[in-house]
Amino acid sequence: MLPEVLRIQAEGFEKGNPEVLVKYSKSFRDIFYVIKSKDKIVGYCIYYLKPVLSLKGFEKQSVISSIATDKNFRGQGFAERLLRSSIKEMKVNGISSVLLYVNINNLPAIQLYKKIGFREIKQVENICGQKERCYELELRLV
Ligand SMILES: CC(C)(COP(=O)(O)OP(=O)(O)OC[C@H]1O[C@@H](n2cnc3c(N)ncnc32)[C@H](O)[C@@H]1OP(=O)(O)O)[C@@H](O)C(=O)NCCC(=O)NCCS
Repeated sequence: MLPEVLRIQAEGFEKGNPEVLVKYSKSFRDIFYVIKSKDKIVGYCIYYLKPVLSLKGFEKQSVISSIATDKNFRGQGFAERLLRSSIKEMKVNGISSVLLYVNINNLPAIQLYKKIGFREIKQVENICGQKERCYELELRLV
């Protein structure tokens, strides 16, 4: 499935680098979800787990590092379905919150995350690209 995921990543992110995605996925032990339409992969969502210390002790947080839909299949609800089922499974696996970063100019993605219930935590620089501003968004699951 990796070649399909990398193809969708390349068309979704101008500065997306397949080697970086593969390298980080290995070191962070990323989890990949894909969504298919008639046996064809049309979208993916990648996340990794991060322990966070809270008042209740250590909690499991997931960080979505990349999500994209094949250009020809956008606007048909695939990303929303993929994200909702990924989040459902994260909840079953005891994850307490989901974090992600989105460029402040990426309106389709921001709309998607807001629709699902993500809330803005803060604005940060240099995470979505050098000198680019992005929102840190969070969805609490518990
Ligand atoms: C962002 C992205 C993943 C959305 O994928 P998609 O499969 O087209 O999204 P969906 O069809 O599931 O849309 C779900 C919701 O997202 C929002 N949305 C999606 N595309 C939108 C657009 N072009 N403009 C505004 N809102 C949009 C809407 O709220 C939509 O719900 P609605 O149809 O009820 O209005 C897709 O545009 C993409 O791959 N972009 C390039 C990669 C990227 O930017 N990834 C996110 C990085 S943080």
